[in-house]
Amino acid sequence: MSNDAQKKAAAERAVEFIQCDTLVGLGHGSTTAFAIERLATLLQTGALKNIRAIPCSLEVEAHAKRLGIPLTSLEENPAIDLTIDGADEVDPQMNLIKGGGGALLREKVVACASRREVIIVDGSKLSPQLGTHFALPIEVVPFAWVVEKRFIEGLGAHVRLRGGKEHPFKTDQGNIILDCQFNPIDDAEKLAERLNARAGIVEHGLFIGLATDLIVADNNGVRHYKRDDGPVSF
Ligand code: A5P
Repeated sequence: MSNDAQKKAAAERAVEFIQCDTLVGLGHGSTTAFAIERLATLLQTGALKNIRAIPCSLEVEAHAKRLGIPLTSLEENPAIDLTIDGADEVDPQMNLIKGGGGALLREKVVACASRREVIIVDGSKLSPQLGTHFALPIEVVPFAWVVEKRFIEGLGAHVRLRGGKEHPFKTDQGNIILDCQFNPIDDAEKLAERLNARAGIVEHGLFIGLATDLIVADNNGVRHYKRDDGPVSF
C-alpha cells in the first residue's frame, strides 16, 4: 500500500465509528482530509444523518464547507462525541506529537472537549519514543519568540523558527511555531508540565493521555487499538 493508501484506509476505518445525530471534531492534515471526504460521501448518500462538525483549522473549515458538511462552533456545542485527527508521531502509550500542520492549539482544545479522540496514522508515524522522528512544535506569541527559543534550548532542544525570520509561519491565532528537536524526549509528561507552566508558550504538540483510540494502517492491514487495553506493541 502506498503512504496515501494507508492514510485513506485508516481514515475510512475511523469514519465507521461516526454515528447519526452526533457532533464530530475534524482534525487538520492530509490523513484527516481523507476522513472528511468519506464523511461527506456518507452524508450525501444518506448513510449518515444529522451530523454537525467542529473544524480544527480555517483550512479544515473551508474544506468541510466545500463538501457540504454542516458545521457548528464550540460556543454553541461544547461537548464533542468523537473527533478524528492525525498525528506526527505516536508512542506505545498512545501519547502523540502533533502540530506538523500548525493546528495544534485548536486540535488540543477539541481533543480535550471530546468524549472519544480517534487518531489515524500510517505506519511511518509509529515510534518507540516521542521526538525520535519529529521535532516538537511549540506555539508561542510573536512578542516572546526569542525568549522562548532560549528557554527551550535550555531544556536541551535544537530549536528552529518555522518559516524562518523573513517569513515566519503564522497559526490561525496569529502566533508562531518553534520546531524543537529533542532527539528524543526523555520524559514527555515532565516536559509537557514545564512547557505548560511557561508564560509566552501558548501550546505545545505533546498530546498526553488524550487519544482514546488509535487506527494504524500499514502493509499488514488496518489495526484498531484502544487506550483502555494498555500499551500498544508496534
Ligand atoms: C496538524 O497540526 C497536525 O497535528 C496533524 O494532525 C499532523 O501533522 C498529521 O498530519 P498528516 O496527516 O498530514 O501527516
